[in-house]
Amino acid sequence: MQKTIKANSAYLILAFVSISLFLGCVGGQLGKNNSGEYRNGMVVSASEYASKIGVDVLKKGGNAVDAAVAVQFALAVVYPNAGNIGGGGFMVYRSAKGETNTLDFREKAAGNASRDMYLDAAGNPIVDKSLYGQLAAGVPGSVAGMAEAHQKYGRLKWDELVAPAEALAANGFKITARQARELTGMKTRLKKLNLLGTALLKEKVWAEGDVLVQQELANTLKRIKEEGRNGFYEGAVADSIVAEMKRGNGIITKQDLKDYKAVWRKPVLGTYRGYDIITMPPPSSGGIALVQLLKSVEAYPLSKWGFNSDSTVQVMVEAERRVYADRAAHLGDPDFYPVPQQKLIENGYVKARMATFNWQKASTSAEIKAGEIAPVEHEETTHFSIVDKDGNAVSITTTLNGSYGAGVVVKGAGFLLNNEMDDFSVKPGSPNMFGLVGGEANAIAPKKRMLSSMTPAILAKNGELFMVVGTPGGSTIITSVFQTIVNVVDFNQSMQTAVNSKKFHHQWLPDQVDIEPQALDSLTIEKLKAKGYKIVPRGAIGRVDAILKTKWGYYQGGADPRGDDKAIGW
Ligand code: GLY
Repeated sequence: MQKTIKANSAYLILAFVSISLFLGCVGGQLGKNNSGEYRNGMVVSASEYASKIGVDVLKKGGNAVDAAVAVQFALAVVYPNAGNIGGGGFMVYRSAKGETNTLDFREKAAGNASRDMYLDAAGNPIVDKSLYGQLAAGVPGSVAGMAEAHQKYGRLKWDELVAPAEALAANGFKITARQARELTGMKTRLKKLNLLGTALLKEKVWAEGDVLVQQELANTLKRIKEEGRNGFYEGAVADSIVAEMKRGNGIITKQDLKDYKAVWRKPVLGTYRGYDIITMPPPSSGGIALVQLLKSVEAYPLSKWGFNSDSTVQVMVEAERRVYADRAAHLGDPDFYPVPQQKLIENGYVKARMATFNWQKASTSAEIKAGEIAPVEHEETTHFSIVDKDGNAVSITTTLNGSYGAGVVVKGAGFLLNNEMDDFSVKPGSPNMFGLVGGEANAIAPKKRMLSSMTPAILAKNGELFMVVGTPGGSTIITSVFQTIVNVVDFNQSMQTAVNSKKFHHQWLPDQVDIEPQALDSLTIEKLKAKGYKIVPRGAIGRVDAILKTKWGYYQGGADPRGDDKAIGW
């Protein structure tokens, strides 16, 4: 009897193993398994059109950088509120062999910019001046960034990577319901700032499924396709930019455009519970802040306390309060200001910062650093994550700053100007559009890069790729990336669940915990309030687009349902 049971069990195990192997083989051949995970690569971005273009490049034999170039240009067409050629961004790269690098294609202040250019005679910020119109724009970096990335790592020909975006701009694409709402909402501002008209304006209201054709943008992309970076920074497009500056009160010159250079920078490296973190150095504050946050909570048993429990939230919030206070004081463009980068992420320093935290009672931001600030929240930017067949990974966050940037579409060239100048400390000590306070380190100076929160990141474990992650969200970028990593590492969530999970945010000033609807249950909220935390409900936080490599070697996508984002693998 026992022999029969043993024989039957052995038979069953053999059958199970055979079926698994068979399914594994089929899955391997198709590059996909039954859980919707992919073997050969993946693109996750804010638009299905852009993700599809990226995956097509991968299928053609392009690597992750080739796909990133194609996606960046495609987003400039299909996601005009943040995708761009008139803005800038950061790329974090990790090769399949573990080589890491970062590219800074952040915008720069024009050569004629000056410290007080957005202040009135009494020395107070004129808020709209750094937000809307030609004067709000920094010298764009995206085209130089893509050309630089392609030159160093690209495999396919440049023109093949720009052509899909050019075709989309010329032939048009169907806008989503969300885009129809956003474009309609922008109508008054676009009309006011674009007296000569733009393709983004329509007489009637925009509706889902309307086809947006951008012929001027297509012409610009054609020049970039044929002439590379010179097609943007010199010639007819540069002429159009300078003419646009003259139409408003802008100050970007031909020399500023010609001089713009993207810069390779040494990544910020850190570890968290055995995972290697590779992320962006200054002029992003994001990388240093992310490593500080992870180190601040590493000593605490978050997984035991549970996802978004009162103890977990309390310790994460206290870490955020301290890290954002550091951000305001110490971070700026490293080419202009000696950022104490190593000191800020030293274990001893981070530990000492957390030593003042008291379980019984919320710290106050006034004791961490003085200040009383009113927030202004706008959070547009966009992120995409890519992995190719060989395992090379790219994490890019790119931005115009506010939604539709400065609201000015360069006449004749068809692309939106950024309003990145507002990311400087317009008046050191005053908040920017995200309510963030900055100090001397981030004061305006000619040709300087403004501080950013963008936090593209890549995680690896034991020499193997683990995660590619990033998000838009202004000041909430850093905390959203932080929480997404904690959700996976501490709470064992899948990539999609970690992205979907509701988030909370504290940025030192204002001294409050912002929470998405349903982020915390009512008991947790009561416990935190009893300790002195001010809890403030708000709308969506972040739009994380991320990829996780499973232990079986498949890629899991996490495309944020807060937007129209899409993960496509193959
Ligand atoms: N403009 C948003 C950021 O760079 O953080």
